[in-house]
Amino acid sequence: MRRLLVAAGVTALALAGTAAPAAAAPAPGGAGLGDRYFPDYGNGGYDVSHYDIRLRYYPGEDRLTGTTTILATATSDLSSFDLDFILDTESVLVNNRPAGFARQGDHELVVTPSRTLSEGQAMTIVVQYSGVPSTKVAAGYTAWIRTPDGALAVGEPEEAWWWFPSNDHPSDKATFDVSVAVPDGVEVISNGVQPRNPTQELLGWTRWYWRSAQPQATYLASLAIGQYDITRDVTPDGIPVINAYSTSLPPAYDAAARASVERTAEIVAWESSVFGPWPFEAQGGVVAPPDTLGFALENQTRPNYSAAFFRAGANPYVIVHENAHQWFGDAVSVGQWRDIWLNEGFSSYAEWLWSEKQGEGTTDEIFDYLYAAEPAQFWTVPPGDPGAPRLFNGAVYDRGAMTLHRLRKLIGDDDFFTLLRTWVKRHRYDDATTARFIALAENISGRSLDDFFQTWLYTPAKPALAAAARSAA
Ligand code: ARG
Ligand code: ZN
Repeated sequence: MRRLLVAAGVTALALAGTAAPAAAAPAPGGAGLGDRYFPDYGNGGYDVSHYDIRLRYYPGEDRLTGTTTILATATSDLSSFDLDFILDTESVLVNNRPAGFARQGDHELVVTPSRTLSEGQAMTIVVQYSGVPSTKVAAGYTAWIRTPDGALAVGEPEEAWWWFPSNDHPSDKATFDVSVAVPDGVEVISNGVQPRNPTQELLGWTRWYWRSAQPQATYLASLAIGQYDITRDVTPDGIPVINAYSTSLPPAYDAAARASVERTAEIVAWESSVFGPWPFEAQGGVVAPPDTLGFALENQTRPNYSAAFFRAGANPYVIVHENAHQWFGDAVSVGQWRDIWLNEGFSSYAEWLWSEKQGEGTTDEIFDYLYAAEPAQFWTVPPGDPGAPRLFNGAVYDRGAMTLHRLRKLIGDDDFFTLLRTWVKRHRYDDATTARFIALAENISGRSLDDFFQTWLYTPAKPALAAAARSAA
C-alpha cells in the first residue's frame, strides 16, 4: 500500500519523456524508491498489499526454508521488477507462471516474469527459498540474530532481507500472515494476533500462526524463536495482550522485565489519552535472551526489548518509548528514512511526558537540563537530516524531542496536543513526511513556522533560545 510522492514523480517523468500518450514499452521497475538515504531500499513499479510468509526453522542449524506469497499491483508496465532479498531463492512464480530470477548487487533479487505486466495488473508472486540467515551479509552486516536457543529477526532499517522477500521500504506497508514451524517445545512470537492456535505438523514439529491485520512496514515485521514464557491478558477495551519472556533471563532481571512489560496496557492507555486511540489489534512485548539483542525495537503491536534494559531494575521508560512508536513510526510511518526524527523525537518526547506525569522531572526541567548539558558535538547533527550513518544519533532522539518541546511553548498546549492527535488521525496506516508535519503545525497554529523548524531541525548549530522566542512573537 503505497501512496508515495515518488510514484507521482515517476508517472510525471514517464509522461514528460513520451511524445505520444501511447503506452510506454514495459520497462524494469527499478532497484529503489528514491529514498534519499537508501536509494536501493524498496523497489519501483509495484505496490504490495499483503505478505503471506510460511516458513520452517531448524534452530540447531539456523536453517530457514519456506515460501512467501506476495499480493501486489503493478504501478507501471513492467518487463521485470526487483524484490529485496538475500536468502537462496529456489523458484519464483508470477501469476502462476515460472519467472526468471537473479541476485544483483547487495540485496536485490531481479524477477523477470514470463509475460510483461501492465500498470494496474494484479500480481501474485510466490518465492520459494531456503538458507542460513546468520551466514548472509548485506549492508555490511548481518541483521539476523542467532540466540542460544533460536533466533531474532529484529532490526532497523534492515531486517526483512534475512527472512522474507519484500518491497523493503516503510512507504509500502502491507498486511501480514506469518507462520513458522519449529521443533515441538520451541516458541515463535511475531506481530499481531494468533488467528489460530499452534498446530501439530508431522512428527515433532509445531506450526505457529500470527497475523497483522493493519498495514505494517516491512522492518517492523519480527520473529522471536526460542524458549519463551508467554503471558496472555486482555485490556479493559478487549484488546489481546501477549507478552513473551526468554526463559534464560536471570531471576533478578526476569522480575524487573515483567514489572516493566506487564505495565504495557496501563502505559498504552495513558498514551492513548494523549495521542488518540490505539491503532492496532493487539499489544504486548518480547524480552530477548541476555546478550543477544542490543537495543529495543517498536515492532508493530509487540516491541522487542533487549534484556539489558531491565538489568538494573524495572524500566517503564523503554515501554513508554517503544509503545509511543506504535503511533509515531508504526501507524504513521516515515516516507523517507531522512524523516526518522518523526519516530524517535516523538517517542523520546513521550518519555518526557511520562516523567512529568510520574513527578520525576518536568518537561521544562528535562529541556533545560539537555540544553545545558549536551556537548558541542551534539549540536552539529541536525535531527531533520542527520545523514544515513547517524540515523539513530542522540540528536535525532533528544534534539528531536527538544524541537517538539519548543514547538509546544510556541504554539501552546491546546494546539500542540491537537497537532499530535490530528497528525496520527490524518496519516495512520500510511506514511508521511516532515514537510507535511510542518504544514499541519502551521495550519493548526495559524503561524508561519518555517524559521522555527529550519533552526531546530536543519541547522547544525545550537539554537539560541532568545532567537526562538523572538520568532514566536
Ligand atoms: N527504533 C529503535 C528505538 O526504539 C532504535 C533501533 C536502533 N537500531 C539499531 N540497530 N541500533 O529507538
Ligand atoms: Zn525509538
